Amino acid sequence: MGRSSIAALHLAGHEVVGLARTPQSAAQIAATGAETCLGDVFDLDAMAAGMQGCDAVANLATKVPVGTGALRPGSLKAIDRIRLHGSRVVTEAAQRAGVERIIQQSLSFMYADLDDDWIDEHSPVDVTHATEPVVVAESNVKAIEAAGGTAVSLRFGLITGNDRNSAWLFRRAAAGRAIGLGAEQSWMHVIHPDDVGSAVVHALTAPGGVYNVGAEPVQRRDYVDTIALAAGRRHGHFLPGWVLRLGGEKLEILTRSQRVSSQLFSDRTGWHPYHPKLTPDWFDDLV
Ligand SMILES: NC(=O)c1ccc[n+]([C@@H]2O[C@H](COP(=O)([O-])OP(=O)(O)OC[C@H]3O[C@@H](n4cnc5c(N)ncnc54)[C@H](OP(=O)(O)O)[C@@H]3O)[C@@H](O)[C@H]2O)c1
Repeated sequence: MGRSSIAALHLAGHEVVGLARTPQSAAQIAATGAETCLGDVFDLDAMAAGMQGCDAVANLATKVPVGTGALRPGSLKAIDRIRLHGSRVVTEAAQRAGVERIIQQSLSFMYADLDDDWIDEHSPVDVTHATEPVVVAESNVKAIEAAGGTAVSLRFGLITGNDRNSAWLFRRAAAGRAIGLGAEQSWMHVIHPDDVGSAVVHALTAPGGVYNVGAEPVQRRDYVDTIALAAGRRHGHFLPGWVLRLGGEKLEILTRSQRVSSQLFSDRTGWHPYHPKLTPDWFDDLV
């Protein structure tokens, strides 16, 4: 999300300061031509110092466990802390530095399973232990509104392309192993990594609020087959139901049928995905 956003922001003519926790990350950011600020999302002083002179801040920090590690007890602790506490620090730092706009990365996973019905920003959410921190993060950044600022939360679909989670699924599919979760006809909301960055650029001018951001929804059977095809297989396979029961709430959110529309964000900002429909070439980097 960070890499994609820096590239898109530069392309749109913006100056960027990237937050880095290590000298190695700082060097990667510097190589893009962005300025760097050393610090951590939990470090209020470093965050406020890094935001000095900025017009907007995009909070894209994340720590999502990938693969079977996601099933271990406590696997969501780090990401939950970033969502619950990090979003508060970002907001406080923005207020201190006089930054008037916060863009918070969020997830469309929070919506309830609505089967074949379309989902928009007014559709019901289904809050569980797994989705609550996402809802709280959206709510935390709204504190900027009290000082006349603007909070924009982008409810991204599942990032699908050259990211770590897709790479893990791709390797499994290439080996002929199951990657599908849930019902084959259920709907998923996906987004190409490049479109994350272009959405962050468009969020700079969006009216405050929450927006769904993604490509055309895809049915799980097509999602699984598209990855398998890119990985050199004719078909993908689904995991048995007992795996889902083992994963509890952590896996349940990955099985909801979510036919999510991103129309509102397009209408309000003119954003359109460069990659409007999932195709095997989304995985070209992995091939
Ligand atoms: N909509 C979605 O699908 C969605 C949403 C969120 C996350 N994800 C997951 O995340 C992946 C894609 O996101 P990504 O490529 O941006 O993830 P990523 O490669 O893991 O990058 C996360 C970034 O957050 C930074 N970070 C983590 N903890 C931090 C902290 N305490 N303070 C400051 N920065 C911190 C990391 O810095 P370091 O380099 O220092 O670790 C890294 O730069 C996908 O594979 C997916 O599994 C998906």
